[in-house]
Amino acid sequence: MPETIALAADHAGYALKEKLKEMLAERGLDILDLGTYSAEPADYPDQANAVAAALAEGRAQRGVLVCGTGIGIAIAANRHRHVRAALCHDVTTTRLAREHNDANVLVLGGRIVGEATARDCLATFLDTPFAGGRHARRVAKLG
Ligand code: RB5
Repeated sequence: MPETIALAADHAGYALKEKLKEMLAERGLDILDLGTYSAEPADYPDQANAVAAALAEGRAQRGVLVCGTGIGIAIAANRHRHVRAALCHDVTTTRLAREHNDANVLVLGGRIVGEATARDCLATFLDTPFAGGRHARRVAKLG
């Protein structure tokens, strides 16, 4: 069964979310698009909460969130204990978010990163395993 990726953005992340959706579809992954569905103003905590709920309920295994900077939506997502949302800006931060932090939500800034970088980040997020070992002990302490 293919992995399901929950995807959500506010208005400032909407355009990038649509691009990332195309990439997930090309990879044959199941997509759970939790909005927003237009560039009309939306409040980023609502989308973060929607992805957190989808993960908690097992409707998706991992998530992707986008707002203007990625900051607000990452803060909101990380208020949920089961979420490890990592705001990433490039392949290196994304790789380390997977290897060291076992991030289960990739966060991008739609007004910060270009489409090509965002695509690279998403591919890295999907393909990089958690390194485990000493990092597992630290991640366990996150609660
Ligand atoms: C929306 O204008 C903007 O504040 C939001 O997308 C995000 O960047 C907040 O952190």
